[in-house]
Amino acid sequence: MNILILGSGGREHAFAYKIKQSRLCKNLYVAPGNSGTREIATNLQIPLDQFNLVAEAIKNYKISMVIVGPEIPLVNGLKDFIASHKELKDTIVIGPNKHAAQLEGSKDFAKDFLNRHNIPTASHRTFTAKTIKAAFSYIDSMTPPYVLKADGLAAGKGVLIIDNPDEAKTELNEMLVKSKFGEASKSVVIEEFLDGIELSCFAITDGKDYKLLPSAKDYKRIGEGDTGLNTGGMGAVSPPTFLTEDFFRKVEKKVIQPTIDGLIKDNINYQGFIFFGLIKVNGEPYVIEYNVRMGDPESEVVLPRIKSDLLELLFSVSNGELSNHQIVIDDKKAATVFLVSGGYPEQYEKGKEIYGLDTISDSILFHAGAKYENGKVKTNGGRVIAVTSMGDSIKKAISKSYESINKIKFDKMNYRKDIGFDL
Ligand code: AMP
Ligand code: GLY
Repeated sequence: MNILILGSGGREHAFAYKIKQSRLCKNLYVAPGNSGTREIATNLQIPLDQFNLVAEAIKNYKISMVIVGPEIPLVNGLKDFIASHKELKDTIVIGPNKHAAQLEGSKDFAKDFLNRHNIPTASHRTFTAKTIKAAFSYIDSMTPPYVLKADGLAAGKGVLIIDNPDEAKTELNEMLVKSKFGEASKSVVIEEFLDGIELSCFAITDGKDYKLLPSAKDYKRIGEGDTGLNTGGMGAVSPPTFLTEDFFRKVEKKVIQPTIDGLIKDNINYQGFIFFGLIKVNGEPYVIEYNVRMGDPESEVVLPRIKSDLLELLFSVSNGELSNHQIVIDDKKAATVFLVSGGYPEQYEKGKEIYGLDTISDSILFHAGAKYENGKVKTNGGRVIAVTSMGDSIKKAISKSYESINKIKFDKMNYRKDIGFDL
């Protein structure tokens, strides 16, 4: 089978790494990919917002399955676009259609879904410019901090957590009236603040049944001790050590199973990954968000722990035979540490040569913002390379990653030295 993976980050390199191991994979393509995927697959220079070019590639390269890494093509209806082409109707797309992808593409849609199916989540109300006065009263009725969320996709920047009510109202006005996040903040969800520890859980569904994938915790802040600005993710571990069996049973019973049942009840046809962004408050799980894809950097620790054939799993999803599939998870724990460009998540430089990559044997290097140029691998983004290691304990896995990092160098390289500090 010929497989096409869409995306260019560490997550997509991790997918490529696993798919490449499958006996079912003949030719592997990644669009647009990076210097890491280039080593194990053929990169195709296709911008992901040009669906007609994706369709062309599916025809030209006789692609049987498309695995969509990031959310934007799904939210914009890539699956529907492919299904609407007669010659492409047999192409398998791993990821939901446009309607179902609103679980990530619209916070209001997700909150309605959660409430309709009695899945625990922060209480909320949704407002538009027309109802801004009611929104101000709602803020006055709440205890701080105030959580304001742009309804639509805002490149991970659409959530504001504010302590002061006047500041919250000013920001709300910026979002609703002054279009701070463009279309994405035409409506805003205001919700109750939940204080707890966050974790990422994952399932895959064929629309009837589901299988659980390993869980993870990501480290989002730039600075040690979880301080400073938010990033795309500075590292991750799997499994999170605080995820006891007892708590996970609660997650499955109160969140995962009701989500799958809810999709069926609502007639929402869903084949693909579901990412549950959870927060544990007083021993109970609450849903912070749904994502309709795998996480990044979570994929860099979750996918290497799947021992069974990932492509077989994905085919069982497309056939509606997931219930017959046996997924085998490695007992080994995994950790990843992201090497980032100095200055990220604010301004940073690109094009720095990366040294030492071929000296690494104890870790897996998942390239992200890295490109191949004239025989060299160079930095090409904020998050450059995820250094993943496996071990009998999270601690051992983390130490291995740090040992590997000692052999890698680029100008202004930065990384967090405390991944897993809290476990
Ligand atoms: P989201 O885009 O919905 O995942 O929100 C981004 C981040 O904001 C989350 O990862 C949480 O750290 C935080 N957050 C979102 N909603 C809440 C909430 N209701 N209470 C506390 N923190 C939240
Ligand atoms: N690590 C969070 C995300 O992928 O959205």
